[in-house]
Amino acid sequence: MAHLAHISDIHFGKIASMRVVDALVEDVNSAGVDLVAASGDLTQRAFPKQFMEARALLDRFDAPWLAVPGNHDVYPWWRPGQRLVDPVRRFRRYICDDPYPQQSLPGAEVVGVNSAHGWTVMGGRLGPRDREAIRDGFLGAQQAPASPASRPVRILVVHHHLHLLQEVGPHDVSRGATKALHAAAEAGVDLILCGHLHVSHIEHVKTTRPGREIGAPATAEHRIVIASAGTATSTRGRRSNRRTNFYNHVRTGEGWFEVEERRYDPDLGRFDTTRAHRFDVED
Ligand SMILES: [Fe+2]
Ligand SMILES: [Fe+2]
Repeated sequence: MAHLAHISDIHFGKIASMRVVDALVEDVNSAGVDLVAASGDLTQRAFPKQFMEARALLDRFDAPWLAVPGNHDVYPWWRPGQRLVDPVRRFRRYICDDPYPQQSLPGAEVVGVNSAHGWTVMGGRLGPRDREAIRDGFLGAQQAPASPASRPVRILVVHHHLHLLQEVGPHDVSRGATKALHAAAEAGVDLILCGHLHVSHIEHVKTTRPGREIGAPATAEHRIVIASAGTATSTRGRRSNRRTNFYNHVRTGEGWFEVEERRYDPDLGRFDTTRAHRFDVED
């Protein structure tokens, strides 16, 4: 029903090679995706030239795109005034002016949230307005009584992590992550597309959400799948993904969705599937 490409941490200013960039565009366009979701760190230092190069890449995709900023897309530390006053001004100018971009597709509702700010160098932050945007974005988009098989898969796009990935090991988690994760559960989010770690990894988290119907228990368990994409085009791959480029395909169907990790093969000069993970949509 819906087919997305999920790219992250493309880091213009630190790209591996134009060969990787070209291979990414070729791979995404040949798959005929409905939407490209970019989960932040489009640049290395938030320079105008880097944003223009990142924008040029996004505009090479045949499909529409949706993007949120990452910590590298805020003014660098040596511009403290701008960092605090309007940290993602350049992202807004060159990429997207909407802090909560949204796309409704047959089979998927996609909402982006900006977790980048100017207060720390690395970490993200999500506050009350962001939680409200998550709830409104998904719950406001509901058109009919939802059943797991017929409702669109709800996909949240955010740069930083809302949950510590158990299998990845120590990593930073956004400030306000727990509350944001609960807001996502309340909104029935099925899948979070994020990045930041430069490690391609899929894991799910069980969280709770308030009961929404009379007679329902005060809290109900809700599963959210987290797809942390590796860096699609930069040299900054970490841990097991060192010097390796990844991105994801997401497909949705009636009552299911799938995340497929694709890895760049430098010998072949193209991306190939490494793993695919299929999930049932839960109520
Ligand atoms: Fe990054
Ligand atoms: Fe980041």
